[in-house]
Amino acid sequence: MSNTATSATKSGAPSDTGALSIQDSRTGKEYTVPILPPGTEGDTTVRALDLRAIKQSDDEFGLMTYDPAFMNTASCKSAITYIDGDKGILRYRGYPIEQLAEKASFLEVAWLLRHGELPSQTEYDKWVHDITYHTYVHENIKTFLGGFRYDAHPMSMLCSTVAALSSFYPSAKNIMDPAERELAIVRLIAKLPTLAAFIYRHGKGLPFIYPDNDLSYIENFLSMVARMTEAKYEASPVFTKALEVLFILHADHEQNCSTSAVRAVGSSQVDPFSAIAAGIAALYGPLHGGANEQVLRMIEHIGHPKNVPAFIEEVKGGKSQRLMGFGHRVYKSYDPRARIVKQLADDVFKQVGMDKDLEIALELERIALSDDYFVSRKLYPNVDFYTGLIYRSMAFPTEFFTVLFAVARTAGWLAQWEEMLLDKEQKIARPRQIYTGPAERKYTSTLSHEKKAGSRR
Ligand code: CMC
Repeated sequence: MSNTATSATKSGAPSDTGALSIQDSRTGKEYTVPILPPGTEGDTTVRALDLRAIKQSDDEFGLMTYDPAFMNTASCKSAITYIDGDKGILRYRGYPIEQLAEKASFLEVAWLLRHGELPSQTEYDKWVHDITYHTYVHENIKTFLGGFRYDAHPMSMLCSTVAALSSFYPSAKNIMDPAERELAIVRLIAKLPTLAAFIYRHGKGLPFIYPDNDLSYIENFLSMVARMTEAKYEASPVFTKALEVLFILHADHEQNCSTSAVRAVGSSQVDPFSAIAAGIAALYGPLHGGANEQVLRMIEHIGHPKNVPAFIEEVKGGKSQRLMGFGHRVYKSYDPRARIVKQLADDVFKQVGMDKDLEIALELERIALSDDYFVSRKLYPNVDFYTGLIYRSMAFPTEFFTVLFAVARTAGWLAQWEEMLLDKEQKIARPRQIYTGPAERKYTSTLSHEKKAGSRR
């Protein structure tokens, strides 16, 4: 007996792109599941819903797929970022990250991520103008920030403050209105550096510095962070260039934990400020964007290059934490961003002098790359391994590193959020589960007292 498990799909006949033949050993029934047309780079999939037709009886729910941590599930179609983890390739809208890091500006990349093409001069000038003129935040935000303790973690402050912005711009909830989307996107990209800088100054107990519209995006951010009594802040060209490149490298990374969070939360049709706050919360975690902070803490803990071999043994023996800044879910040869960051670190250290902890980092990398534990598991330095050292040489506090990541990633989150909203195949995100709790049972109280209406139990 042969059943066809083809659901209604406009993606083409199974014969165009192939099909899977599945035999259910429970029933002996055979099914044909179409293989969907591949993506640009040949990614092939079957539609998980097509498996639902595989069942033993009509009143059964049907077969689901089980994929904790989404190890092998494509949750969307996306034209924004392409990664080949085996070959160490990262491209935004088809452009290799190496070329963008070398030649483009961060705002040009932010435009590219959202629109799919590089901006014309006119488009770019308007984009930069609009972002520049939305950098101010409502004065009440200062009061809001003042409520945090002096030692509040900058990522907690950023997450809450971005979420609070949604209350300042209530019309942003009209997400299907292109003009409202445009305004919210401009506001978020424009205000993130201002919030980040205010948070930095709060932690230092310094007065807030307002945006300077004469400066570029990066220079203005550095001015709001570092300006003291001078009338005009002049950022170091080496630091400005380093931050521009780091922002480009961090601008997007397809369906990682925080981007999936933005898409999932955004799929409820909440406003973009709330969706981006969800992304910031996800990024905060030590296995994600929080890793750059953890790398520095790990290096401080090691203390001296001579302690590196013992530390590596602890990691391998499971006695210590993981080697932070190593390993990646997708990259299994090398992280192309790490290569660019290492070069950048060399440039910055030439300017500011050798960081004492760089020696520990280099020794960690040298030993790990020749140790079978790391080689056999394909664990290579990721983008976060060297970024922390650069940020620290620029005098950013360790707990602030992930904020810098978040400012840059906002461009990617917003592009992914809008792509999700306009994708007709997307609905509210709602995974299935395999229920493993008790089957139905009768309630019998084990408590001595009788339930009374309104009583405290
Ligand atoms: N140090 C030591 N062992 C490791 C590490 C590490 N950094 N990463 C993975 N392993 C081991 C792990 O113990 C496991 O070994 P075994 O097979 O013997 O159990 C094996 O390698 C596979 O690990 P996994 O946890 O299944 O791999 P994953 O793909 O789920 O995890 C990761 C990816 C990035 C969470 C992980 O490599 C990690 O925790 N790295 C350290 C944190 C870090 O640097 N995160 C930044 C990632 S890049 C930027 C970003 O995403 O924001």
